[in-house]
Amino acid sequence: MLIHIKNLKKDYDTEGVITKVLRGVSFDIEEGEFVSIMGPSGSGKSTLMHILGLLDRSSSGTYNLHGKNVNSLDDEELAVLRNREIGFVFQAFNLLPRTTVLDNVKLPLIYSASKKNMNERAQKVLESVGLGHRLEFLSNQISGGEKQRVAIARALVNNPSVILADEPTGNLDSKSGNQVMEILQRLNKEGKTIIVVTHEIFTAEHASRIIKIHDGEIVADGAVKKRRFASQEGELLK
Ligand SMILES: Nc1ncnc2c1ncn2[C@@H]1O[C@H](COP(=O)(O)OP(=O)(O)O)[C@@H](O)[C@H]1O
Ligand SMILES: [Mg+2]
Repeated sequence: MLIHIKNLKKDYDTEGVITKVLRGVSFDIEEGEFVSIMGPSGSGKSTLMHILGLLDRSSSGTYNLHGKNVNSLDDEELAVLRNREIGFVFQAFNLLPRTTVLDNVKLPLIYSASKKNMNERAQKVLESVGLGHRLEFLSNQISGGEKQRVAIARALVNNPSVILADEPTGNLDSKSGNQVMEILQRLNKEGKTIIVVTHEIFTAEHASRIIKIHDGEIVADGAVKKRRFASQEGELLK
């Protein structure tokens, strides 16, 4: 089991006003799964992703990542675990501007235990997302679709257990968005666990399982029935 969460809750306290954002969320995700999380704006998707990505903590409930109880870790242990286990892709790319594509992708390596062959490793993941010709471009000199592929390379460079992508196609035109989803699909076929938040069913159906969240609660969780046009690999899935 890669991810086990049970009765996860998150409250925000804004000047004494309590907002219950997650109201007891439970699910398990196995290694190698490709899961989409869907739900209306404000339903708690990003809050959940930030907790899964170890960028934030729950107010209560269980979160085990690779059998490790995350709640018991201090901030430094959490940062080490995040660097090793999690690759996060944001809607707004979150690249360092005026910094080369290669240096953006090297960044997580600088904070990791293994600093060997940083240039080669960064270059290799950039080539794997089709950006071998953009290494020395500044991150603000490339298109949105390319930016998101740089962000995927950055998320991949430490070879994490799971890629978490929060509306990765939200700022992209449909062609670039599709390229991003195809890369995530390929990574999943190579064995990577992927969790994607999206608004669009078309995007969500790249996954094999969809979890629907509404007002901080899970309202549906099931396998995607592939339509014939949704994926060339449709016949492999029931
Ligand atoms: N830091 C915060 N403080 C207070 N409320 C927050 C904070 N972050 C998110 N919220 C509230 O939590 C709810 C869920 O937000 P979010 O997880 O971003 O939803 P989604 O990603 O599904 O649109 C929203 O009502 C939002 O206003
Ligand atoms: Mg969000």
